[in-house]
Amino acid sequence: MAQRRVIQEIKARISLVEMARRYVDLKRNGARWVAPCPFHQETKPSFSINEEEGFFYCFGCQASGDLFDFYGRINGLDFRETLEALAEEAGVALEEDPRSISSHRDDTARRRAVSEKHQMLRMHEIAAAHFVGNLMGEAGRECRDYMARRGITEDVAKDFGLGWSLREWQSLADAIRRAGLPPELGIKASLLSKSERGRVFDRFRGRFMFPIHNLNGNVIAFGGRIIADEDEAKYINSSDTPLYKKGEHLFGLARARRAITTGVPAMLTEGYMDVVTLHQFGYGGAVGVLGTALTPDQVRRLSGFTSRVELLFDGDRAGRKAALRSAAMLLARGLSCKVILFPEGEDIDSLLRTRGKELFEKLRKQAQEGLAFCVRTLQDMAPRDAIEWARAFLKQVEQPELVSPYASALALGLGLAEAELREQAASGRRQGNRDVSQASTGAAVKLRTGEMLDREIMTFAVRYPHAMAKLRDAGAQLCLRAAWSRALWDKLENNPPDEVFHLLDPREKNFWVRCRAHDAPPLSNEEGEFAAVHAILTRLQLAEQQHSVAAALQQGAGRGDFETDLEYLRALQETLENSHGKQH
Ligand code: GTP
Ligand code: MN
Repeated sequence: MAQRRVIQEIKARISLVEMARRYVDLKRNGARWVAPCPFHQETKPSFSINEEEGFFYCFGCQASGDLFDFYGRINGLDFRETLEALAEEAGVALEEDPRSISSHRDDTARRRAVSEKHQMLRMHEIAAAHFVGNLMGEAGRECRDYMARRGITEDVAKDFGLGWSLREWQSLADAIRRAGLPPELGIKASLLSKSERGRVFDRFRGRFMFPIHNLNGNVIAFGGRIIADEDEAKYINSSDTPLYKKGEHLFGLARARRAITTGVPAMLTEGYMDVVTLHQFGYGGAVGVLGTALTPDQVRRLSGFTSRVELLFDGDRAGRKAALRSAAMLLARGLSCKVILFPEGEDIDSLLRTRGKELFEKLRKQAQEGLAFCVRTLQDMAPRDAIEWARAFLKQVEQPELVSPYASALALGLGLAEAELREQAASGRRQGNRDVSQASTGAAVKLRTGEMLDREIMTFAVRYPHAMAKLRDAGAQLCLRAAWSRALWDKLENNPPDEVFHLLDPREKNFWVRCRAHDAPPLSNEEGEFAAVHAILTRLQLAEQQHSVAAALQQGAGRGDFETDLEYLRALQETLENSHGKQH
């Protein structure tokens, strides 16, 4: 089935209202369903669903979209993952993986890739159970002693599925063979390795094993720590496989999600051990970045179920730097955060275990808000670096309404004029000695007028995509000024109306939903709405004509060319009459 048909089929089987009901408490309000928004923190119901159109919209944070956007966002999945999950739930067959169509031309190769993935998942399941079994058995004593020394309880070990890889070369390899799975695939799954002489052996040996789960709860990778004074890397992790890509997942997120959605604060930290210890001490919302610097994918996943994150970092230079970077990423995405710094050299695990929760709670209370932390950190930097940072940061802010408050806070902290920071952020150029703040206000005003006209045109286009030709004939396309409206126009013009939605970016989707759902009037007055847009277009075109006639007259005047002047005058009169007639 083509992807478009699959999407339609899924939407026909799973209603957005039924789906949203699993996450929020929906109440009927006239033609709409409303609830407190799951995508930003609030208690009043700004989140609403238009059942007939199948769109949601939040008046508070402007989150919007259809069933796929809702499910993907709340579960932190990208479009492909969302499609797979919903197709499975709806019982709709997904035959084609668009990512692999070009590389796998024939069906058998495609089927092999799918079944390989299934086998790898099965293999990880077997490995996880194998490692847990090792930990419980006689050979696991060494690791159990280590756990005891570090204060890890059996309960939390069980919750996380922690295990032990034996100090042997063929332990997991044998288990995989016994299960009838090909060892070669174990290499591809990053569970086994191959020696130069071609012998397959266990990749993880003599390590305390931390399974990494995806959001469906399947084990997809492992991290393993040495437990004695050994001359080896402290941790080794699965490398990238078809199941796992470094930087896409967060350690502990599958477990933490449940806690976070019930209001437990989300905490972001760096180490496996830290996450485990936090859970053991009752902080069920803790997740780990898994040996990378925080990535946009990780932020996306997290932003699905929470809008507030506590960042936990070491208070040393490296820790502060990582905290600054992470805070900026969260703020740019519209999440709020707090930064909790530990005394130098301590991590959360050592701090909780040696000094208990009290000190940690004290540090949490003292934590700075993310933006304040950024400002403070910038104040310690060289001014030039700080300004550079601030400009780069402002460029990354995704929600336009956040740019202004962020810019003023940063400007205040850095002792700069806000307009300067923003002007430079917006255009990166500066003209001569002109007053920068005036220049930017002028530009903003012009932009706004242009955008208003664009908005009128595009509202009609989105509401009645079947009538694009009519709009074009009226010259609408030529009147569009803004880049966003031209881009949206192109998408509408080049795609069938019922396929456009999934090609839109988040801002376009937002616009679409506002135009067609929620408080927008019903789509029943195409003629009337078109007449209104048409009147605007005519006026606009007339205004331009007048402008050019007047300009020509001015140019012509003084040249003594009477005939030409007269001709222009007539033309001007005509356009004026026209505009008079059209307006009444
Ligand atoms: P403990 O030292 O047992 O408390 O573990 P930790 O998780 O606190 O380790 P640490 O603070 O040294 O490192 C933080 C995280 O960085 C770890 O959880 C790993 O994800 C990663 N990491 C640390 N050392 C290594 C290493 O040698 N190799 C790799 N690939 N990752 C590492
Ligand atoms: Mn540690």
